[in-house]
Amino acid sequence: MFITVTRSYDEMSQRAALLVAAHVIVKPDTVLGLPTGSTPLGMYRELVRMRRETNLGFSRVATFNLDEYVGLPPDDPQSYDFFMRTNFTDHVNLRRDRVFIPDGRARDLAAECRRYEKLIERRGPIDLFVLGIGQNGHIGFNEPSHALQAETHVETLSARTRRANARFFGSVSKVPRRAITMGMGTIMKAREIILLAGSKEKAEAIKRAVKGPVTPAVPASVLQLHPACRMFIDSSAASGLG
Ligand code: GLP
Repeated sequence: MFITVTRSYDEMSQRAALLVAAHVIVKPDTVLGLPTGSTPLGMYRELVRMRRETNLGFSRVATFNLDEYVGLPPDDPQSYDFFMRTNFTDHVNLRRDRVFIPDGRARDLAAECRRYEKLIERRGPIDLFVLGIGQNGHIGFNEPSHALQAETHVETLSARTRRANARFFGSVSKVPRRAITMGMGTIMKAREIILLAGSKEKAEAIKRAVKGPVTPAVPASVLQLHPACRMFIDSSAASGLG
C-alpha cells in the first residue's frame, strides 16, 4: 500500500483527477471503477473542468459504479445513478451505453448481481478503481462482518452506515436498508486502485485499514493485499497514522 498525504481536500481531489486523466490519455478505452459519496465530489468537479478546458476525451471509456441502493428509482436524487449523472457522466463525453450501475430496482436482485458481475468480467478488467471509505471501514457497501462475500451481492446496511448516510436523506428512517455492491473480490481484480479520504471522521478507519490486521471486520484492510493500491488522503484523515 502506497500512501500520499495531501495538504488539503482540494489537493487530494486534484491528484486523483490527474491520475484518472493520465489513465484515459494513455489508454483511451480505459475501464474505470467509480465511487459515490461526498469524498469524490472534488475529483469529479476537477475531471469535468479538465474536459471543458483541455478537451480530455472519455468517448471510449467505460465506467462501472461500485454500488446502488435497493429500491430507489434512477430519478430519485439519492440514488447513485442520479448522483453520477448530475456530478459527472452528464458533463463529460462518456457514452451512455458504457456507463454501468447496478439496478437497485431489479425484481430479482440475485440475478441482477450475477448479471453485473458477468458484465464486469466481460468488459474488464477494471484498469483503475477509485474508492472512498466508510467511517466503519466499509468499501462500497461491503460492511464489516465475520466473512466477506467476494462477488457482487446484496448487503444489509449497518446501523452506523445508515446513520452516516442519513445526512443525505433527511432522517435515518429514510435511508434504504439494503444495497447492491461489488464484492471485495470484484474490486481486488482491478489493475490499480486508489482510495480517497479527506476528513477527520475517516482517521480511525484509515488507521485500521492501513495498520491493523487484514480482517473482514475492516473490509478496507483487504486492500493491503493488492499489489498496486495507493491512498490519497488529506492530513486530517491521516492523523491516526502517527
Ligand atoms: C457510502 C458509499 C461508499 C462511500 C462511503 C463514504 O456508504 N457506498 O462507497 O465510500 O459512503 O462516503 P463519503 O465520501 O460521503 O464519506
